[in-house]
This record gives sequence, structure tokens and C-alpha cells, in this order.
Amino acid sequence: MNTYDPEKVSTFLAPNKHLLGKGVACQLGGEIKTLGGSKVFVVTDPGVVKAGLVPAVIEPLKSEGMKIGVYDKVQPEPTSGIVDEAARIARSGRYDLVVGLGGGSSLDVAKGVAMMVANTGSILDYVGLNMFPKRGIPKILIPTTAGTGSEASWVCVVTDEKKNEKKSLYGFMLLPDVAMLDPVLTVSMPPSVTADTGFDALVHAIESYVSVNRTPYTEIMAGEAIRLISRNLPVAYGKGGDIKARFNMLLAANLAGMAFTSGGLGATHGLAYPLGTQYHMPHGRSNAIMLPHVMRFNLTGNLEGYAGVARMMGENIDGLSAYEASEKAVDAVMRLLAAVRISCRLSDYGVQKKKISLLTKEALQQSRFFVPNPKDVTEEDIRRIYKDAY
Ligand SMILES: [Fe+2]
Repeated sequence: MNTYDPEKVSTFLAPNKHLLGKGVACQLGGEIKTLGGSKVFVVTDPGVVKAGLVPAVIEPLKSEGMKIGVYDKVQPEPTSGIVDEAARIARSGRYDLVVGLGGGSSLDVAKGVAMMVANTGSILDYVGLNMFPKRGIPKILIPTTAGTGSEASWVCVVTDEKKNEKKSLYGFMLLPDVAMLDPVLTVSMPPSVTADTGFDALVHAIESYVSVNRTPYTEIMAGEAIRLISRNLPVAYGKGGDIKARFNMLLAANLAGMAFTSGGLGATHGLAYPLGTQYHMPHGRSNAIMLPHVMRFNLTGNLEGYAGVARMMGENIDGLSAYEASEKAVDAVMRLLAAVRISCRLSDYGVQKKKISLLTKEALQQSRFFVPNPKDVTEEDIRRIYKDAY
């Protein structure tokens, strides 16, 4: 039931190299040498430090004689100031390679730092598509969550702290040189972070699967990501040490990251961003809350696509009308939310009803997400979706 169109030219973007498997992070030294690095700047965050993951990754590098610097101050929803500060340190220390170790925030900052070592000014000077004039230093990204797929994507998201707005930088130069996917590094994730980040990956997969910019590559990758997440997220949530579930989630998040890099996202992200900036909700949680409500709004824009989502999530859609089949996708998402104990009601998160106007205004600023969305989105639509979610 694919919709491959021979008339449409497809592009597919991905990192130069992926390494996937249990214990693969121990091959980092070899990858650094292959890229010609000897002075390595590690970008990470306090959570990763607390989980004890930093020494396991950098000690083998030190014993190989590499010089290592560590920046471990990355915060969730990282500001441009964090990227600029880390880049200043990396530039003055003459580091020649960046390793990002952590969740999406650390990986996004690592990408920004690798670019800013070679470019002048602030990261905010390069918001938009392919805005960097110079290629940065090589970057190797190692995720410790299974969600953003930042290790596979061409985007770096930073918060403009003066405007309290999220800004996205896109470009093929932001794609990592190497992505290393080691499920061992994700087992210490607590259940709530597993759930939130896993839902971010699911939103990437569903939005790119139904996107008007989907391609044969993105359909294949997003479809498999949806299948893997629906079967493995409840296991990873309930039994954190299950290495197979962790492996499948890491693979799914990675596939979803590649899918949305070429196929685009949609209105769920557009409506989730204001919840991040106004209420400092984790990105995955705000996406999870908005997903079923945006799906219900979107269904008629791509009935066949949503029916495909239902099928990938294990729903039996035989004999159903296209509309009934597409609705099964929403049912499946609601069940998955319940399985990982995520409420999709804004009122459960202290969001005030009177704030819906402000959220709507901010969501309108994220119009780039509405371009690939299967349905056009008006201001009134956004307001109604937030009200439905309340
Ligand atoms: Fe996301």
C-alpha cells in the first residue's frame, strides 16, 4: 500500500556512517583516528555525568594518548548562549573533533559547537537552511536516549533566550560524520524519560510517514520505526534493562530521525513547541500530549497514510472503511500513551485555559511545520486543537 511516485524526485540525507550494536561505543577511538582527530571536545550534560557514562567513553581515549576536553553544562532546551560558550572554549582550546554524548540537547549543542569552531559570531546568526559558510570540524554523535534521532538528523534546535523562541538550523553540513548507537548507554534512562523520548521518536515517525513531502526512503524508515516503537516502548518502559527493547528503540529513533530529515515533520511539533517554551515541558512530553489531538484533526488529510500507521502499530484494519481504518491509528496511540502512563490532557499539566490564545499565537510562529502537514492549519484550527487537548 505504498504511495511511491515515479514523477517525484526524492532526496535522502543521512550521516556518513552508522555503527549499531551492544558495546559499540568502545570503538570510538578508532573512529576518531579515522577522521584524523587527536584533540577531542566532548559535549555532554549533568544527567549523563551523574549516570556515570562519561568515564566509560573517554578513559579509553585518554589511554590512547588523545587530549580530551569535556563541556558538561548542557541544559534541556539548550539556549544559544550555551552553544556560543562551548564553542568559545572549543575554539580557544584548538580542538579538532567534537563528540556529542547524551540526549537530543547534548547532541544538538555538539553539532552547533562543531560548526561554530569554524564560523564566526553567534549560532543565532545561522538560523535557517544551509546558512553556515564553512564546514565545521568532524563530529561523532552518541545518543544516550532513544528519541530525538539528532544523531541522524540535519537539524540543530536552540532557544533564543531573548525572544524565548526555539530556532532551528538545518543543513547537510550538520549531519554527523559518525553516529554510534550503543543500547548499553540507554539502559539507565528512567521510565518517564524512556516514555517521553520514545514518544518524540514516534511523533517523528508518524509525522514523516503522513507528510506531503514523504519519499520512498522516508516511508520505509518511518514505517519500520512506528512498528518497532509500538512493540518495544512498553517493554523498555517497564523493564529498563531489556537490552533488546533498548536496541530496538535506539534503532527506531535513528530511523525516525533520518525519515524526518528528508520527509519533514508536521503540526504536532508546531503545537508542542509553545508548551516547551511556556511551560518548560520536555520536548517528548509536549509532543506526546499533542499527538492524538493533531492526528484526529489531520486524519482526512491522509486517510491511507493513517491507516498505514494503524497497521504498523498492529491494528487489524481488514474490512474497514478508509476513515475507520485511519481512526484505529489514534486508538493505538491512545493505548500506547496509557501503557507508558502519559496523560494527553493539558489540564493535567497546570496549563491554564486562558493561555490558549498565547499558545496559539506562538504555534503560528512555527509555520514551517505546517508546510509538510497533511492538512492546512489555520489559527482557528490551532485554537480548536488546543481546546480539544485541554
Ligand atoms: Fe522532535
